[in-house]
Amino acid sequence: MNRSAHAEDLKSILGGLKGPLMKVAQFLSTIPDALPPEYAAELAQLQANAPPMGWPFVKRRMTSELGTGWEGRFAEFGREAAAAASLGQVHRGRTVEGQDVACKLQYPDMPSVVEADLRQLRLALSLYHRMDNALQNDDIYKELSERLREELDYVREAAQMRLYGLMLRDAHDVTVPEPLMTLTTPRLLTMTWLPGRSLQGVLDENPPLETRNQIARSLFIAWYIPLYRYGVIHGDPHLGNYQVRSDNGVNLLDFGAIRVFRPHFLRGVIDLFEAIRDNDEDKAHNAYEGWGFTGLSREKTDVLNQWARFLYEPLIEDRVRLIQETNDPQYGREIAQKVHQGLQRTGGVKPPREFVLMDRSAIGLGSVFLRMGAKLNWHRMFHELIDSFNEDELAARQASALTEVGVPASL
Ligand SMILES: Nc1ncnc2c1ncn2[C@@H]1O[C@H](COP(=O)(O)OP(=O)(O)O)[C@@H](O)[C@H]1O
Ligand SMILES: [Mg+2]
Repeated sequence: MNRSAHAEDLKSILGGLKGPLMKVAQFLSTIPDALPPEYAAELAQLQANAPPMGWPFVKRRMTSELGTGWEGRFAEFGREAAAAASLGQVHRGRTVEGQDVACKLQYPDMPSVVEADLRQLRLALSLYHRMDNALQNDDIYKELSERLREELDYVREAAQMRLYGLMLRDAHDVTVPEPLMTLTTPRLLTMTWLPGRSLQGVLDENPPLETRNQIARSLFIAWYIPLYRYGVIHGDPHLGNYQVRSDNGVNLLDFGAIRVFRPHFLRGVIDLFEAIRDNDEDKAHNAYEGWGFTGLSREKTDVLNQWARFLYEPLIEDRVRLIQETNDPQYGREIAQKVHQGLQRTGGVKPPREFVLMDRSAIGLGSVFLRMGAKLNWHRMFHELIDSFNEDELAARQASALTEVGVPASL
């Protein structure tokens, strides 16, 4: 079968995806050329089209989660959803103790919807692989399916939220909600309500550079303290997953898709930065192996370095700057295309599972900083986090944090 016939099949398979895979679609559209650009763009625009649950249905769902008489546990409970969620919807309420809360209530039957979507995704990826060998995507599929299945379990998400609260407890520019476990079940997550504005809403008012810088700095901290101190990443830098506080700090939300890395992986991330900075080819090669890439020829390493240089470049020079200095919004895509062609030419690579959320976060957050026009000394912010890096200390910190909050270690 030729490439264009495959492409048509791929399109019809992806067209059959339901709501939850919006997230996967967005994931894929940030992995350089995991999908042909035209589909990636189409997928990134998919919206949850499930109709909101109406009040009678919400009441029944709440009764199944908390039992009859659940209304007595709230002083107030909004009849209408305050926000849509990818697997359900969020209602605002107040507990009888007077705490303002957000209740994320899952739609029924989500496990089977997720499984159906994952089957479609597997089909799409294997078809894609037959037309294109730049990325061998079996591990990408494994990673996405595992994260997506974890997202179904709100008790797990509550533990992951506590983990973020712990990791960021000294970071006063970032607020993390606290789960209320007596009002939480695998399909209902009740947490403290955080007041804040959407980033888009703030940007629409053309705030001064100082404001944009403060917000960008808060986001940088929210993402990279957990990564470089604990080896944990929030895998979903989507605009709906944080809000701006009135003092330009941020509320970080949505802990459904996080990733706990092996401590040694972080060593690889830092080594790769140093290798790119110093143009040290052997070090780069070793760093990729530390990340989990295998069988890399010198040629493939060169191609991967083009991508790494794109991501690390803003961190190299000690000065205030935009995250990307070319004015060309297509620049990132052009690099991705060049890298993709290079990988095709040299026989392709199999990205390790860790690569998926790392790359997604770097690209997602980078494009937010770009959109904000923030001008910061990224180099200094990065060095403040990594200069004291020590793999054994990170391992100890990570293990004790996971134990304290009860997140099952996935590695
Ligand atoms: N603690 C909270 N306080 C206020 N609003 C919240 C809170 N948690 C979630 N929301 C709102 O609900 C939306 C969906 O929640 P989120 O956890 O991101 O769901 P999903 O995992 O489905 O993406 C958010 O974009 C936000 O608008
Ligand atoms: Mg979300």
